[in-house]
Amino acid sequence: MTSLRDRLHAQTGVLLDPASTPLGLREATIALAALGREAGGVDTLMDSPPASQGTWTANGMALGAVYAARCIVDVFRTTRFCAGLHDAVAAARQRFQGPIRLLYAGCGPYATLVLPLLTRCSPDELQITLLDLHPKTLRSATRLFEAVGAQDLLAEAVCDDATAWDPGARPPFHVGVCEALQAALGKEPHVAITHNLAPRLAPGGIWVPESIEVRAVLVDHAREDDHSLAAVGTDRGRVDFGVVYDLRAGGVDAGREVVVPGAEAWGDEAMLLTTIQVYGEHRLGPYDCGLTMPVRFPDGPAVLPGRTLRFHCDLSGKPGLRYEQA
Ligand SMILES: C[S@@+](CC[C@H](N)C(=O)[O-])C[C@H]1O[C@@H](n2cnc3c(N)ncnc32)[C@H](O)[C@@H]1O
Repeated sequence: MTSLRDRLHAQTGVLLDPASTPLGLREATIALAALGREAGGVDTLMDSPPASQGTWTANGMALGAVYAARCIVDVFRTTRFCAGLHDAVAAARQRFQGPIRLLYAGCGPYATLVLPLLTRCSPDELQITLLDLHPKTLRSATRLFEAVGAQDLLAEAVCDDATAWDPGARPPFHVGVCEALQAALGKEPHVAITHNLAPRLAPGGIWVPESIEVRAVLVDHAREDDHSLAAVGTDRGRVDFGVVYDLRAGGVDAGREVVVPGAEAWGDEAMLLTTIQVYGEHRLGPYDCGLTMPVRFPDGPAVLPGRTLRFHCDLSGKPGLRYEQA
């Protein structure tokens, strides 16, 4: 019988192979979800509390183990993040001596984003610290490391709030990764986690994703809602009125002002579009995954031609972008 480790290696090989088809990628993520269930014990189909229940923190909703596990089958999200993180670790190995210290904040029950690394790196090359708010989630992720024979790669499993966690006297991490995110930076505490942990990396360290940009656009619904293959990659006639927030590891974006275009450019509705620059060539654009679906504007003043709108990211309670008239 094929070992869990061999299955993991084969399926993550599909994720890393640029020649894989969308169907092949989909099958690989489903196979990895089955592996996570066998190894870690959290089932994506379970729907009973407490595993399905999330926690409202001061900076947003931390998904419970079941919903966090389900993220694995968001095919292009998982593929691009895994491939990007794999390349980021390879780049870090060129920059730093000794094992790369990798911090995985909000690791979820299957530690999904590090799965390809578990059979491709030795303990001399990589040491991983897992961090998650939920004990059940963290137990599942550590069991998975053991089940695939990667326990020597696990430096530490920390159960704490990543928006406030201080690594203290630990040597600085070379690479950090987090995906506790929803479209247009809403609901989950991704921004607060990035603000807390990205600045604590070693100088020259790499934070994944490298950046997340949200733009305001006017859309034409008929063109926007055409999901036929012929429409993929075509110009949907959006009227772009600029970046309203740009999350980067290196700095805190205070938000931006944009001017609503004149009436001659008017579309059906103003929406927010998210683009995630994961690492290097790996990025997620509108419609690629759940995290980059266009979303409606938050409640605020009427969006009228010529008005200047000032955006900021509210980190408290239910986080997200808000705006006012400038
Ligand atoms: C959207 S899930 C993603 C899971 C996994 N990283 C993946 O990519 O499939 C977010 C995870 O982050 C954890 N999380 C959210 N907010 C957190 C916080 N403030 N501190 C620690 N963990 C947090 C949740 O418990 C959950 O496991």
